[in-house]
Amino acid sequence: MNPVLISPSILSADFLHLQDALSQAEAAGADWVHIDVMDGHFVPNLTMGPFIVEACRRATRLPLDVHLMIENPDRLIPAFIEAGADYLTVHVETCPHLHRTLESIRVREVRAGVSLNPATPAAAIGEVLPMLDLVLVMSVNPGYSGQRFIGSVVPKIEQIRKSLDAIGSAARLQVDGGITPETAPAVVQAGADVLVAASAVFGHPEGIAAGLEALRRSIA
Ligand code: DX5
Ligand code: ZN
Repeated sequence: MNPVLISPSILSADFLHLQDALSQAEAAGADWVHIDVMDGHFVPNLTMGPFIVEACRRATRLPLDVHLMIENPDRLIPAFIEAGADYLTVHVETCPHLHRTLESIRVREVRAGVSLNPATPAAAIGEVLPMLDLVLVMSVNPGYSGQRFIGSVVPKIEQIRKSLDAIGSAARLQVDGGITPETAPAVVQAGADVLVAASAVFGHPEGIAAGLEALRRSIA
């Protein structure tokens, strides 16, 4: 199995000091930077756009892992690629022409991901698995950081891990939502190899490095 990577979500970072937060995360060994893009339609909250991705691109050398929680992502994919996304993940629930959407990412040589809400079955992405560099299983209903982990998604993680292994896919299997030192071991056990965490890293009371360290220790 791949080493488990941690992708801290800047949704819980201090936006007045984003450069500082990213530098601290990078120095403390974060593997990627997760950027949560919300449109106020697909999800109830409204967050950031390509402008912030472009700013992060200048602030860190870490891969930018961009999670699009937006309706009609096709419209904005070029802008996020232009801004410097390394991974671009769309929600299957927003993509009636998922194959075409993924092709439009891959053709630009950006890594393509698909995310599933807690209520969406693994079968929804079965046909496109060979095209994917990343599968993102949501373990909360997307919209906010700091929500409680939904444990009933763990069998879906196991199922997708089996399907990826069965086709010899090297795609990363990412889990996002409510990831803490308490919940991380179960998702890693189920086969996840990228953990997204916002509040457990950027909201840790002892700081970013302590948050990352606690997560790593929990899965060591
Ligand atoms: C949820 C976002 C997550 C969120 C995670 O809609 O996609 O990435 O920031 O926050 P925590 O880790 O606090 O649950
Ligand atoms: Zn996310």
